Amino acid sequence: MSSLALMRWLESAPHRYDAGMRWLTLGRVSRVHAAVAEAAAAKPEVRILEIGCGTGAITALLVERGARVTALDQNPEMLEQARARLAAAPPGAVTWIERTASEIDALPAAGFDAAVAGLCLSEMSAGERAFVLRELALRLRPGGALVAADEVQPRSTGQRLLHALLRGPQAALAWLIAGSTSHPIRDLAGEVAAAGFEVRSERRWLLGRLAVVVAERPR
Ligand SMILES: C[S@@+](CC[C@H](N)C(=O)[O-])C[C@H]1O[C@@H](n2cnc3c(N)ncnc32)[C@H](O)[C@@H]1O
Repeated sequence: MSSLALMRWLESAPHRYDAGMRWLTLGRVSRVHAAVAEAAAAKPEVRILEIGCGTGAITALLVERGARVTALDQNPEMLEQARARLAAAPPGAVTWIERTASEIDALPAAGFDAAVAGLCLSEMSAGERAFVLRELALRLRPGGALVAADEVQPRSTGQRLLHALLRGPQAALAWLIAGSTSHPIRDLAGEVAAAGFEVRSERRWLLGRLAVVVAERPR
């Protein structure tokens, strides 16, 4: 059984992040990335704001689908991997920004057709996440889509118990070697709705521990 508790540790070594995540998620992360890209870039030429782009796995899929992406991450080493991955992207397809997600308030209001948050909201405090989700809503045009994929707490009591048993030791290991771990979100769809979005769908993988929420800024 894999666990996402070690995700933060992988971020401390960006060159092994992609392979490590495939291993930790038993390959499910690639399916999640594909689902995110499909939902966010349903049409070509969409303007997408991606927060926490990491090594650019989702960014690359969005660009393949013809999107123009503003990709932001606070970690320069992750951004370096992302830039290398997309070195052959068409000119102007990606704008890279080294910044924290809470600084997106400097970006144009209603300037994007879609926003993507891949496995990064769970790395924020609840307060930062609420602020960032509200700001993402303001960066989207009315009717624009938010696609958020993240580690979440399973819904059923049995799955939550199993999750706690399996995750505990790996979270402790992550703290020992990296000094941090991720924090599964209790109610991602509820937090997205509280930020002013209308939730359209929620899909789950990995025994209910990895969710993709698709929502819309009301028109
Ligand atoms: C687990 S990685 C996921 C990367 C990528 N989205 C993916 O799905 O492969 C999380 C990324 O979010 C970034 N991140 C976390 N909190 C952030 C914040 N507050 N502002 C900007 N980036 C953040 C980290 O630096 C890291 O690159």
